[in-house]
Amino acid sequence: MIPKPNIFSREGKFKQSWDAFVLLMTVVAAIETPLRLVLQLPVEGALLIVDSFIMGTFLIDMVLNFLTPVRVNDQLVTSRKGIALKYLKGWFILDLLSIFPWTLFFGASWGGVKLLRLLRLAHIATFMQKIAKANIINASLLRMFILAFWVALFAHWAACGWIALGAGNIGPEWHAEKNLLYLRSFYWAVTTIATIGYGDVTPVTPQQTMFAIVIEIMGAGLYGYVIAIFAGLISNLDAARKKFTEQIDEINTFMRFRHIPQVLQNQIRDYYDYMWESRRGHNESHVLADLPHSLKLKVSIFINQAMLEKVPIFEGAGEALVKELVLNLKPTILTPRDYVFQAGDEGDSMYFISSGQVEIVSADGKTVFATLAAGSYFGEMALLLSQPRSASARALGYVDLYSLEKNTFDRILEKFPSFQEHLHELATQRQSGNKK
Ligand code: CMP
Repeated sequence: MIPKPNIFSREGKFKQSWDAFVLLMTVVAAIETPLRLVLQLPVEGALLIVDSFIMGTFLIDMVLNFLTPVRVNDQLVTSRKGIALKYLKGWFILDLLSIFPWTLFFGASWGGVKLLRLLRLAHIATFMQKIAKANIINASLLRMFILAFWVALFAHWAACGWIALGAGNIGPEWHAEKNLLYLRSFYWAVTTIATIGYGDVTPVTPQQTMFAIVIEIMGAGLYGYVIAIFAGLISNLDAARKKFTEQIDEINTFMRFRHIPQVLQNQIRDYYDYMWESRRGHNESHVLADLPHSLKLKVSIFINQAMLEKVPIFEGAGEALVKELVLNLKPTILTPRDYVFQAGDEGDSMYFISSGQVEIVSADGKTVFATLAAGSYFGEMALLLSQPRSASARALGYVDLYSLEKNTFDRILEKFPSFQEHLHELATQRQSGNKK
């Protein structure tokens, strides 16, 4: 049975924007609610609007949660009953507690219970986990951001707690204005958490002293944790570069140990520079090796499309041919003045140039028959006409090549006879051109 289409798709744009909005409201609630409670701000005017907005958002979100398909053990549940059951067993209680109008039922003295809204912060934790899993943003950067967010929120709560307990020895001049009182208390929280503790704001009552001790202990732990995490994250930020540098270090050590001639050492370093500049050190075949066939095909088509589009002989080639080619092309890099093959060699592959230039030269390397650029191909004659290489092929600078092995080449030509004819025609033209 085809599942009934639901109004809200989990991955749909609407739901994602909504989730982001709910998240924002949760953060606003986490900041606003405790602050309003400790500063005893009356819920009126702008605050009333914000408060109602937050409550309205949470309420609508609960309703939406009954309508949005959920994933259970990797299966999408789309039936109303299934969705409701999953929600009731999961977040429902927590969400309900966070929006329950306590003061309405039990009177104003229950205002403190509004702090239950903070329970919704648990959503933030799962949301952030989801983002981290999706790998859309640099994971290290994201983790730093999340950590900074929690530390700032913790400092805010500590400041609110400090105010609730009477704000220690903060003088009356700071008490005159509520924002000044908060500023001074936040200052106390930050200096305590960061283990700076200047001692200018200190506890007076036993409760304040106990609170200060708790925040100090938590602060010391948090501070150490943050430093350790940040140090690790910063070193991970450019993991690709780090890995690449390690590889180069290893090669440098090896070359020195083996007394490799300086000229060759420079060539090798030059090659690594090129690898970094052209593809950030990635080896295409290695990166794709673990992917299943269908995904590999998609990635290969995407990567090679630009290259294949540049090759005139593939203009108008059917999708089937392109797919077949793409999957069998092997990337190779030539360093300056490398020979791909020499005239007279036996032919085992043909080549497509992705970037850079290749010279087709006579056996002695003195006469240049042609200079081929990105989008050209060579080495097809030996395969098509079953003869030795008619000329040598030499890289001018760094060249990115894709090679196609003879067996695959033969198989593809057999499958696509019109392509074979076309290639044949061009090969005879090239050959007669060289003889003139
Ligand atoms: P092959 O004979 O296998 O090896 C040398 C290759 O150089 C040859 O295939 C052609 O692909 C290529 N080639 C030879 N002559 C020319 C030319 N005049 N213009 C372009 N490419 C050529």
